[in-house]
Amino acid sequence: MTTGIEKISFYTPRYMLPLEDLAAARGADYNKYRVGIGQEIMAVAPPDEDIVTMAASAALPLESYFTSIDTVFFATESSIDQSKAAGLFVHGLLGLPKRCRVIELKQACYSATLALRIATQMVSANPKTRALVLASDIARYELGSPAEPTQGAGAVAILVSNKPHILTLDPETGIYAEDVMDFWRPNYREEAVVEGKTSTRIYLHALQNTWKHYQEQSDRSLDRFDHCCFHTPFTNMARKAYQLLQKQQSKHTGTDKTEKTFEEQVAPSLHYNRLTGNTYSASLYECLACLLDQNDLELDQKKISFFSYGSGCTAEFFSGTISPGYKEHLFTKQHQALLQDRTALTVRQYEDVFQLSVPRDGWDHQFGEYRTGPFRFSGVSGHKRIYTKT
Ligand code: HMG
Repeated sequence: MTTGIEKISFYTPRYMLPLEDLAAARGADYNKYRVGIGQEIMAVAPPDEDIVTMAASAALPLESYFTSIDTVFFATESSIDQSKAAGLFVHGLLGLPKRCRVIELKQACYSATLALRIATQMVSANPKTRALVLASDIARYELGSPAEPTQGAGAVAILVSNKPHILTLDPETGIYAEDVMDFWRPNYREEAVVEGKTSTRIYLHALQNTWKHYQEQSDRSLDRFDHCCFHTPFTNMARKAYQLLQKQQSKHTGTDKTEKTFEEQVAPSLHYNRLTGNTYSASLYECLACLLDQNDLELDQKKISFFSYGSGCTAEFFSGTISPGYKEHLFTKQHQALLQDRTALTVRQYEDVFQLSVPRDGWDHQFGEYRTGPFRFSGVSGHKRIYTKT
């Protein structure tokens, strides 16, 4: 009996900022953002959209499966409460079964990967049930900082069951952990603190170590993968990651050339990220959704590699196989419509939205109505967050 991903659905907010405009406002060369970092647009969450509304919106297309869900994992690093799992708000909004476990997981951008692993094992042990893995984040850095053009927002909902219509995972997995300060967000801050150059170096160091560990268990070389998905804070990071693996492979085989190229193996998974920015815990699975949504690719039985990285740091290299007939189980049109139908903000509007943080006094506050998905974070009352359906 196999378990794996039955469905995968992606959501991103209805507002965005073209990075060409941001470059002009910051006095930067747009080519630095477009070519050097590899980003064109960043998704912007309005004040009445948060990790809960984005995750619930990502999960809503899976409605017909809700009665069979007995576990909800909510992976995020944009947590809204020190105690209550954000998944419980989603549980309420979606009317999920009361016979259910709900938990929030945190380890920077990595946590959805562990959620996926645990979910797979739980469903294997009890094949009548399904688990819902939600990954939802808003990437925020200081205005005007070098990291600003890599911001973004979005969520992914993954249904795990014994009907893996999309993907099954291989048992081999390479893991790595090290206590480092490359990126973190103290409880008193809304923006992450980041040592940008250190973070890219540690990301690559973790990749090298997880790849080595993975290869100790599997004889698959880089060329054996049809496509490679990476945690993508910005698309040029995925390019750097792939180049590192190519170098490792060349060292291993003693030849200069690998059979496949970045354009073949990696580029098809990066289009969405280029248009949303970093979605932290959702980013790797956004790349998977993007790859699956490429109409011109036939991915039946194709082998995919995954590299999951969470600053701090924990990383995992693993792989899986796309299921035959996967195309019948996608939400491609919905994903593409979401990305096409967004309202562009001016830099001034983006900065205003950025500065509108949730009031901390706990009294009654109602947020103005912006464009959102099917759910809104409509305000706060008596220290309680109020969510409504639109
Ligand atoms: P920077 O220091 O301003 O950029 O910020 P730079 O000067 O290094 O330039 C970036 C690239 O653009 C360089 O290319 C330049 O050569 C090129 P590279 O050498 O890297 O290949 N460039 C140009 N190209 C074309 N035309 C031009 C031009 N000018 C320059 N005119 C940095 C870059 C990534 C450091 C910054 O954006 C940052 O701090 N970002 C946030 C941190 C981050 O994303 N780190 C990635 C690894 S850690 C990670 O993935 C975890 C994370 O997702 C969080 C989590 O786990 O929760 C962040």
